[in-house]
Amino acid sequence: MILVTGGAGFIGANFVLDWLAQNNEAVINLDKLTYAGNLENLVALKDDPRHIFVQGDIGNTQLVEKLLAQHCPRAVVNFAAESHVDRSIHGPEDFIQTNIVGTFHLLETVRAYWSGLAEAEKAAFRFLHVSTDEVYGSLAQGEPAFSETKRYEPNSPYSASKAASDHLVRAYHHTYGLPVLTTNCSNNYGPYHFPEKLIPLMIVNALAGKPLPVYGDGQQIRDWLYVKDHCSAIRTVLAKGKLGEVYNIGGWNEKANLDIVHTVCTLLDQLRPRTDKKSYREQIAFVTDRPGHDRRYAIDARKIECELGWKPAETFETGIRKTVQWYLDNRDWVSHVQSGDYRKWVEKNYAGRAR
Ligand code: NAD
Ligand code: TYD
Repeated sequence: MILVTGGAGFIGANFVLDWLAQNNEAVINLDKLTYAGNLENLVALKDDPRHIFVQGDIGNTQLVEKLLAQHCPRAVVNFAAESHVDRSIHGPEDFIQTNIVGTFHLLETVRAYWSGLAEAEKAAFRFLHVSTDEVYGSLAQGEPAFSETKRYEPNSPYSASKAASDHLVRAYHHTYGLPVLTTNCSNNYGPYHFPEKLIPLMIVNALAGKPLPVYGDGQQIRDWLYVKDHCSAIRTVLAKGKLGEVYNIGGWNEKANLDIVHTVCTLLDQLRPRTDKKSYREQIAFVTDRPGHDRRYAIDARKIECELGWKPAETFETGIRKTVQWYLDNRDWVSHVQSGDYRKWVEKNYAGRAR
């Protein structure tokens, strides 16, 4: 079996669902269930004996030691993190605690477990660390996309904490020989995406008749990948990746934020037109920019494509249509995640931004 951390969050839950749909290898899912973790994402696995959910912190050494001894996983896939840039600006401490200190404790515990394995299991073991393209910093227009050798230049507390965790993972390979793999992926979108992030926020606000808050001039560029393609890339790296290597994951889909918002509005205009027949674009509101806002991210995905033979299955057009439809079909999921805490966050992040 494998141990997945953060498997009740957006990407982790998609990964666990896809993993168990594709093979019979069981998953222990360790997740702290912060505001971003949601067992409703995993409801399809409620009676599935191949999924063992454990609520807990990756930094809880005793708990992780116990889980490793009890279940003897052949791999750890580490998704657990604080993941939202705007929250890292309002309160960086949780990011330092989970993304840096938590990853450190996880590495230490896994290293002790791995050291005690028999030679064959030791050689086959993998620690796959899921990271982000944001560690590379911001690109100017025309600069080449991020390759795996691009210098780290993180600009937000979130990306700095992820960069630190990537360095620790690298060091555990070079110093102790821990068999690690690191993936740096671009922005994901798809089902179960918490509506604090751009695409789901725009969908749920549009449907609720609320403003669609575009930061600054809306011309910042992100490189979008459908979440299930990220999951297939992680499975590929886990199966075929070379030890100690880094793989950038992306779908060659650079888009400006405003274009993304326009696309979401156009799809909603077709699939769920407003009662007054006007376009959802009427709800777009330009608001004060994010401090230190990175202008452009872009992934050069040639290494994973050429060396491991991975390719995304979705284009942006097919993926975004599926995503908008998923939010239309899952209004209960949306209303359940919009709890008191969610409303407090929206108030905190957007109240002072109106222009
Ligand atoms: P998310 O915020 O939706 O989910 C994170 C999950 O981790 C939640 O279920 C949360 O409860 C859990 N968690 C947080 N702290 C924990 C702790 N101390 N111990 C155990 N569990 C804990 O995030 P996501 O978007 O699914 O991202 C998953 C990973 O992928 C992160 O490491 C993130 O940096 C990386 N990533 C995300 C994107 C993206 O676009 N969302 C892109 C590239 C990489
Ligand atoms: P986000 O989904 O937070 O991902 P990240 O910051 O990790 O790339 O934001 C994606 C882009 O959308 C980013 O440039 C910030 C912008 N954005 C808005 O314009 N308005 C919003 O309300 C949010 C949440 C993001």
